[in-house]
Amino acid sequence: MDNDTRRSAGGQRLVVVANRLPMQRVGDRWQTSPGGLVRALLGVLGSRPGAWVGWTGEIDGQSDDAVLSEATDLSTAHELDGVDLHSVPLSEEEFNHFYERVANGALWPLFHDAIRESTFDADSWSVYRDVNRRFAEATSAAAAEGATVWVHDYHLLLMPAMLRELRPDLLIGFFLHIPFPPQELFMRMPWRDEILHGMLGSDLVGFQRQVGAENFISLAKRLLDVEVTEDTVRAADGREVHVGTFPIGIDAAEIDELARRPSMPARVAEIRDRLGNPEVVFLGVDRLDYTKGIDLRLLGFGSLLKERHNVSPTGPPAMVLVQVAVPGREGVESYAEERHTVDQLVGDVNGEYSTIGYPVVHYLRRGLPLEDLVPLYMAADVMLVTPRRDGMNLVAKEFVASRLDDTGVLILSEFAGASEALVDAILVNPHDSNAVLEAMRTALAMPPDEASRRMRLMRQSVFEHNVHEWAREFLRLLNGLASHA
Ligand code: F6P
Repeated sequence: MDNDTRRSAGGQRLVVVANRLPMQRVGDRWQTSPGGLVRALLGVLGSRPGAWVGWTGEIDGQSDDAVLSEATDLSTAHELDGVDLHSVPLSEEEFNHFYERVANGALWPLFHDAIRESTFDADSWSVYRDVNRRFAEATSAAAAEGATVWVHDYHLLLMPAMLRELRPDLLIGFFLHIPFPPQELFMRMPWRDEILHGMLGSDLVGFQRQVGAENFISLAKRLLDVEVTEDTVRAADGREVHVGTFPIGIDAAEIDELARRPSMPARVAEIRDRLGNPEVVFLGVDRLDYTKGIDLRLLGFGSLLKERHNVSPTGPPAMVLVQVAVPGREGVESYAEERHTVDQLVGDVNGEYSTIGYPVVHYLRRGLPLEDLVPLYMAADVMLVTPRRDGMNLVAKEFVASRLDDTGVLILSEFAGASEALVDAILVNPHDSNAVLEAMRTALAMPPDEASRRMRLMRQSVFEHNVHEWAREFLRLLNGLASHA
């Protein structure tokens, strides 16, 4: 179906566009991807006719069984929970240039304080541009006349302007889930003007934090010489582009429901039992990413064990750390290196402090479904969220949402977006080599009523500013702009 035929056939009134479709393969079946974001967006889409444009996660031509060929059928159209799915297939070469080299080898590190060096390669950038164009074409084909389109994240920075060129009738919103860097870092990007121009194809550009919105506005002013009035930028074609801050939340009600299941207390008790019933369980749950500071907490935990002489030759340890680390992006060298670093640190701490049958670090290098994460959150005493930089960090919020009895302490990096709302966590500067250890000491010394007071306040914030409210607020503002056009 070409664009005109699709439009005359109706298309959809609301289209979400993200690098990944909201589905993944589990065994021999495809099912909804986990995560509050997917659920929130499917919820928003499901309540009215909607579509989702994205990549299936499969590299073209590598699927060889019946189920995958069914997934390949998504290149026409498929349906999930009442939402039309439109896939943008990626070849191996495109995956390599678009996803690995540009999105995760150049943009991701640059936007995260240049914690790792970005590699800028003109050939890869040209593929990034081509893939963005294909997303724009697929979206154009899926959207009804005058539809609202919501584009997500750093994989698709050029796409709003490309889409506007194809379909000036659409209302386009863009939300960046990761930080937007300050001038001195963004200026390193060889294609900096093109990125800003791409984002300014939107009617509304949203960021996690005010500082991201401010960086974006001042860069647009400096590099594109655009007119700026408070939170509005006038694009080259004369349109007003609104810029706003929308801190994302979680589906707190879903976690609450899981935490209240009658089976939960026994699962929590079983976890603590398997850990040797220690006095203190520390927990970390992250993607295995160098931005997350997993190394910092392992070092901090090692120092804590050293100062507490946590070696008992015969019995279980008084303190353990459970670290869940979900591998990914391993075609990018810095991710393979990070995995090596974390593996080695786990080995160091365990080698030094474990006894037969009782490791001090329990390292699960795999993803866990939310049903298994919630009992872990509930079994922990202290949650460690120590990224060097993070757009938001939803794990911190999930931990808080699962603490039905107001117990538990959250150690949270000041460099995570979540720290703006969760001010009652123990906030740490992860770049200070002693700070994580010091925060652990503070957590262990915190009187229970003080911990409860802080947890109550954090829970209030997490339940109030949830992902549904986030999606509603963004779309309310975006759709409001249509009436002023
Ligand atoms: O944090 C940015 C983000 O795009 C998230 O929205 C998402 O959960 C994560 O990265 C997934 O990364 P990838 O698609 O590379 O596995």
